[in-house]
Amino acid sequence: MIDQQTIDRVQDTAQILDVVGEFVSLRRRGQNYVGLCPFHADKNPSFYVSPAKNVCKCFSCGEGGGPVQFLMKHEQISFFEAIKWLGNKYGIEVEDRKMTDEERARQTARESMLMANEFAQKTFEDDLFGTNEGKSIGLTYFRERGLQDETIRRFHLGYALDSKYDFATRALAKGYKREILLDPSENNRDGVGLCYGEDPKRTPSCRFHGRVIFPYHSLSGKPVAFGGRILQRVDHAFKKYVNSPESALYHKSDLLYGIFQAKSEIAKRDKCYIVEGNVDVLTMSQAGFLNTVASAGTALTTNQIRIIKRFTQNVTLMYDGDAPGVSAALKTIDLLLLEGMNVQLILFPDGDDPDSFCRKHTTEEIKQYFEENEKDFVAFKASVMLQGNARRDPMKKAQITQNIVQSIALIENPIYSSAFIREASQLLDLDEMAIMKAIKIVKAQNYAAEVRKFEIEQRRKMAQQEREDREAEGLKATELKTEELTDNAENAPEEQSSPDVEQPNQSAPASAPSILSETRPTDRFERNIIRNIVRHGGKTFEYKWQDENNQMQSEQWRVIDYIGYVLNQDEIEFHVPLYAKMLQLAYDASEDPNEEWDSVKFFTTHEDPEVSKLALSLESDRYDALGIAKNVENLDILIPRCMLELQECIVRTEISDCNKALKYPSPDTDVIKIMQRLQELYDIKKVFDKELGERIVTV
Ligand code: CTP
Ligand code: MN
Repeated sequence: MIDQQTIDRVQDTAQILDVVGEFVSLRRRGQNYVGLCPFHADKNPSFYVSPAKNVCKCFSCGEGGGPVQFLMKHEQISFFEAIKWLGNKYGIEVEDRKMTDEERARQTARESMLMANEFAQKTFEDDLFGTNEGKSIGLTYFRERGLQDETIRRFHLGYALDSKYDFATRALAKGYKREILLDPSENNRDGVGLCYGEDPKRTPSCRFHGRVIFPYHSLSGKPVAFGGRILQRVDHAFKKYVNSPESALYHKSDLLYGIFQAKSEIAKRDKCYIVEGNVDVLTMSQAGFLNTVASAGTALTTNQIRIIKRFTQNVTLMYDGDAPGVSAALKTIDLLLLEGMNVQLILFPDGDDPDSFCRKHTTEEIKQYFEENEKDFVAFKASVMLQGNARRDPMKKAQITQNIVQSIALIENPIYSSAFIREASQLLDLDEMAIMKAIKIVKAQNYAAEVRKFEIEQRRKMAQQEREDREAEGLKATELKTEELTDNAENAPEEQSSPDVEQPNQSAPASAPSILSETRPTDRFERNIIRNIVRHGGKTFEYKWQDENNQMQSEQWRVIDYIGYVLNQDEIEFHVPLYAKMLQLAYDASEDPNEEWDSVKFFTTHEDPEVSKLALSLESDRYDALGIAKNVENLDILIPRCMLELQECIVRTEISDCNKALKYPSPDTDVIKIMQRLQELYDIKKVFDKELGERIVTV
């Protein structure tokens, strides 16, 4: 245990600005600083840091706290680990003596995994510099590739001895658990995969033996995985790189090689170079381009882009000049634009990658080459596609234009997009107005496609989550039965929306004795609206629609206000008492539109246990290990849709009631009136169906 005095000293010393600044690039705004929130997929800066109060807070997702809370959440570490981290940062000695059994038990699995990896990193590093084998094989290899010792140290490169069992023997002797060293699996969730070997009586083999080691670091510099490169000439018998398997610590698509070493330079220079290989990062860094990372073995992913975006919006892609290089660059451009990044590209002369190029030239020459060859994406696309006689071939030129238009359409900021429109018009010798028109069409198409994709995903998620929520709440068996019926209906949407099909209703007869067990088709949609209020009630979104000229229009709404407006206009009341209660609570709590309303906090900490329990289950685990929201919820689509779905369901239910009444008329049934009402309902339904998109899309 760390003594209270030390804890107090660390807490008093830690500055929120320093701490958050290690993970997010911050800009001054008045008394405070703002940046992109590291806890959710933030498009515009909503993360505020107040040095005066020594706290941070996201005004969009509600996450935040003091330096210690921020670290615990961001790094997924315990209180004590956070204190140690801060002690280390501020040069306060935090005694780290041998842990008692109690302390060990309290250690999270994640910490034990990190400790095993830290031991491995140190072992590989020590063996590289301190053993004859390491020096003569590993170090010689690195030096032959032009790497200086300082670079090797800075990136903690290492060497795994060729003897297979050496590493595990030493790790086990040090007290690291066998399971942690082995591959992660269904029944070994804490494995980091340093070793493999099923037989419990034998020492496991080191995955990396006889290879040079490149550790992959998290943003805070912890080794979360390793890549081992073979030294012999690469042939098909051995893979060039062996990497740690994915584990609770490491998701390949979330990691960038070199990000820990590069992040502060990326923020300082407000620019990030992205290369393909680990060694490229090292050579670039050595040549003075310290703001370089590699996507390491995958095409750049959205998660990787979001990590870079915390430090800068400006990236330069560096790929080989050969055909696969160009095609990789073309694919990556749109992904970057979609995340709001400014993209530049540099191609290297055929046969060169950043590593070989940097080793052939002086830093001055490299700088000059970058300056002369850096192109924005419009110029890049035009230059690689407009080769030969493409300029004179109208079909070819139209295709290229369309391709460039599609990229420009992804840029949300109108100031940027107009600059690119101008550039495209000059390079392609086309009218700016024509390009603008084409962009509008692409934008409308993209939006429609997004809505369709969203609908498919949403249906799947709703069915799945409803099942999970109900299980969690332990609802009665009768209700579960009704849910199965609703699910069946959902799998056959055409049938469901057809007015003359009756819902079989054996399990919940109309004459059910208790009003509590009566479920209605609308229940799940009411529930979905409540879910959105709990998760997003106080946030704003863009309500978008197409006007009569097919132009996109939009209007800003706060989620709770929009929901209230629609329900009010259509005079819709919730039937499920708990949902109705929560809706009223939300209205009351959010009354003042000028005051920020944290819906998640409001509901999950509500004094009424029924309310907080449902809120907690609706606001379930949405974050992955890096604290990035797993499912990015696009409120612009999500919110209008959840209202439309309820409206459509109400109309559908009334249609079905009318049809029933016509089929089994009683003496006082007013057939004419019902038929008129039916006609009205069909007309309304048509509008909803159109807005909800093509219903024929099945999952
Ligand atoms: N990579 C991998 N697994 C492989 C091949 C490559 O994970 N079997 C990843 C490595 O991170 C590597 C990157 O993809 O750094 C780029 O591959 P490549 O250019 O082949 O690797 P370099 O590190 O540049 O290799 P070399 O040492 O030959 O320059
Ligand atoms: Mn290479």
